Amino acid sequence: MTNKISLIGRGGSSLSIKAAGKGPVVLFVHGFPLNNDLWANQLEALGGNFHIIAPDLLGFGESSREPEILAGVEISDYARDLELVRNHLSRDQPVVICGLSMGGYVAFEYWSRYASNLRGLVLVNTKPSLDTDAAKSARLSMANEAEQGADVLENMEQKLLGEFSIQSRRDVCDAACRMISETAPATVAAAQRAMARRQDFESRLHEIQFPTLVIGGADDPLASVESTKAWASRIPNSKLEIIPGAGHLTPLETPREFNAALSSFLAELT
Ligand code: MLT
Repeated sequence: MTNKISLIGRGGSSLSIKAAGKGPVVLFVHGFPLNNDLWANQLEALGGNFHIIAPDLLGFGESSREPEILAGVEISDYARDLELVRNHLSRDQPVVICGLSMGGYVAFEYWSRYASNLRGLVLVNTKPSLDTDAAKSARLSMANEAEQGADVLENMEQKLLGEFSIQSRRDVCDAACRMISETAPATVAAAQRAMARRQDFESRLHEIQFPTLVIGGADDPLASVESTKAWASRIPNSKLEIIPGAGHLTPLETPREFNAALSSFLAELT
């Protein structure tokens, strides 16, 4: 059974969280422009063995989205909120953090600040490196256009999903479209600016001493298999799984394979 919890965060903001199960804690962090529904399959399938906690990051899903709360938000603020969630819900246990794409940027940031509260990392469809100058300026344009009322998320699901999902998985496309359509312009603007300012973790991969699972999608249009293999190999205690048929949203597109890879990694930790 999935429970919904609300916590008061910084500046009186409210953080909406879904949680299920009992056992070692796994904190799931969604990507952009999504929310904790990304983890619906994991909440349902993994709660038998683990305590699954999946917050909506500030501005996303049912968490606070007032523009004044979101203004100037940094990836480190999302990580701080995650620590607040861990502090309230994990009964002081160290946790595994599983972050997808932007959620992976938050997971790297969490590792750099709160390593003593971690026991493992799962980095999904993500990357440790900074944007190119062109990618950074595309983010800033998207932020400005969103604030001016442009529909910057139109057809976004086509940019995230793999070809197989787009052609043959109506349910997956619908779930992605639903999350995307619920993301407010102020959230898009704040998150894009935060991602444009994020820290580089590429030069620090060798410092990650925790067991780490890196998961990629064989058809991810945004994080190529080659680059994922290259950076994953620089994390000392890491394992790489590339899932066939998955695009950028592996936990949604290929839940069975994703859950199997995650479960076997988690089983080795316990
Ligand atoms: C995401 O899925 O979170 C985004 O692709 C991250 C990004 O824009 O870099």
